[in-house]
Amino acid sequence: MALLDIIIAPDPRLKIVCQPVDKVDVSVRQLMQDMVETMYHNQGAGLAAPQVGVHKRIIVMDVSPNDREDIPNLRIMANPEIFWRSDEVDRYTEGCLSIPELGVSVTRSSRVKCRYIDENNVSKEVEASGYWAKCIQHEIDHLDGILTFDYQSPLKKSMIIRKLNKIKKQIDTLPSNA
Ligand code: NI
Repeated sequence: MALLDIIIAPDPRLKIVCQPVDKVDVSVRQLMQDMVETMYHNQGAGLAAPQVGVHKRIIVMDVSPNDREDIPNLRIMANPEIFWRSDEVDRYTEGCLSIPELGVSVTRSSRVKCRYIDENNVSKEVEASGYWAKCIQHEIDHLDGILTFDYQSPLKKSMIIRKLNKIKKQIDTLPSNA
């Protein structure tokens, strides 16, 4: 297992459309495990492969409530694809490990059905609602190079990107723990 570096937006590597995985083999499974470790280490609810610089259609998520660490709800997906979404939508303020410190409000389908390949190379389908549905849509967006600020007005988006550039400068000047 290894912790991976998370790319902070804005960054061209977060804007690339990712390629499907042919098969979940040993190397893909290793990447999935490293992504899970990196997600938990950074206390994220989800992580997509392009956020660690790998342009493959892989996402990992755990939306179990923070106060109930005894019920882990880890989901690992290769080639996730939404094939049904509810007409009903709702709006959440979403965090993102590539957009530190800033919550961004996004309107998304309330419920979705998704098919994917799991970490054992088995095809599966899932119906998700609530926060879990938002998380799937957010992570799949990453695979298509879409970030939460892309849904904002041009003015709001440029404000967010300005703030992120400042945050990136601060992170660059922090003493390294290494
Ligand atoms: Ni994100």
